[in-house]
Amino acid sequence: MSQRTCLSVILAAGEGTRMKSAVPKVLHPIAGLPMVAHVVRAAEAAGSGDLALVIGHGADEMRKATQKFAPKAETFVQDKRLGTAHAVLAARDAISKGYDDILVMFGDTPLIDPAVLTAARLKLAEGAAVVVVGFRTSNPSGYGRLIEKGGKLIAIREEKDCTDEEKKITFCNGGLMAVAGKHALTLLDQVGNNNAKAEYYLTDIVEIAGGQGFDVVAAEAGFENVLGINNRAELAAAEGIWQTRRRREAMLSGVTLIAPETVFFSHDTEIGADTIVEPNVWFGPGVKIATGAKIHAFSHIEGATIASNCDVGPYARLRPGSDLRQKAKVGNFCEVKQATIEEGAKVNHLTYIGDARVGAGANIGAGTITCNYDGYSKFFTDIGEGAFVGSNSSLVAPVTIGKGGYIASGSVITESVPDDALAFGRARQRTLAGKGKELRERFASAAAAKKAGG
Ligand code: UD1
Ligand code: MG
Repeated sequence: MSQRTCLSVILAAGEGTRMKSAVPKVLHPIAGLPMVAHVVRAAEAAGSGDLALVIGHGADEMRKATQKFAPKAETFVQDKRLGTAHAVLAARDAISKGYDDILVMFGDTPLIDPAVLTAARLKLAEGAAVVVVGFRTSNPSGYGRLIEKGGKLIAIREEKDCTDEEKKITFCNGGLMAVAGKHALTLLDQVGNNNAKAEYYLTDIVEIAGGQGFDVVAAEAGFENVLGINNRAELAAAEGIWQTRRRREAMLSGVTLIAPETVFFSHDTEIGADTIVEPNVWFGPGVKIATGAKIHAFSHIEGATIASNCDVGPYARLRPGSDLRQKAKVGNFCEVKQATIEEGAKVNHLTYIGDARVGAGANIGAGTITCNYDGYSKFFTDIGEGAFVGSNSSLVAPVTIGKGGYIASGSVITESVPDDALAFGRARQRTLAGKGKELRERFASAAAAKKAGG
């Protein structure tokens, strides 16, 4: 099959009014990736070399977004929404290039498993002209019904065109189709709009192809594969299904999730075996975790690389550009951004490290802040290997703390500190014997005099 060429036509011209959004429906994300990009990925995973995206509503925004997730896709504008067959024909120029297989998918059906597409392509390879992906449901209302006769698929009838008897059919059209490329345009060009909605239905090619002696078959798939999203409640439901699948995949690949239902992955999260993730952890895009890390509860992590055996959280925030090397530790209420925490370094409590390097084995005391921003520009803080930064210090960037440098607690460091030096950046303490008691007595008698006086 690998030699067979394949074009995927993804329909995404719909307005998606029920999303009540200024953003085109298919650009709403699931696991941080636009839903239509999930469809694109599935198509690619099923060996579809070329992609045609049919757009309409929000065309400019769609084109721009497509550049990011499918730079090689061709976009076609369907000016008027005259039905799904009309939409596919918007991509006529792509289809007419000549492909063995044409896959037609909807951009708002993001949970499609590539295996379903591969199975449909296989049926084309075996000689079918049209393959319809169907699903069974106890609540078929709204879907096109698969009409079979003598075990053969003969038509798809849209709900509005069904007889009462046909409405009882529970085998439905999921919307996905595979069509033999050599017949696709001939079949599509024969579709008329003589139906309840006066639309050009893609589904009509089933009856047309069957009538001309072509082989038409249904391939059954689980409902999730064809779950269409029309509103934000369905978007959340799809997100839930996606997360459930991903959590299971992570666990089966050797990751411990103590409370899987509370851990949220991104579409591109990479996480190595023997990592333990405690409850309530959020992974934004761009996270890579090697093996044996511990991610403690309530951590929020995005754009971060975490090497093996690191310890993160609880309550850590790792922002883009965080690079934790082996056995580094970032503890509670710490924020790291665009910074490398080298091997075995510890940033344990209530700290902000931004635009910085923390050298191997360095220890950053509680409440340390890298003052990286003057309101206009960002500056770098370089902390050498084995340095010790005392609690509640402010490191005013640009500044360098040399290897083994030692910063006294509560310092404001504005000048670089050489290797192995000790730096105090605070006023020296004065201790006055007996002064505390004297002060207290003075304040007490002043308060008493005020009270007596009225
Ligand atoms: C369609 C199927 C129905 C199936 C159901 C599954 C047809 C005629 N009907 O119905 O059998 O059970 O999906 O969800 O195909 N689109 C365009 N341009 C158009 C019309 C539609 O781009 O002119 C796009 C929409 O944006 C959407 C997809 O095609 O992504 C499906 O259109 P929709 O109106 O949702 O079709 P359904 O009535 O749900
Ligand atoms: Mg629909």
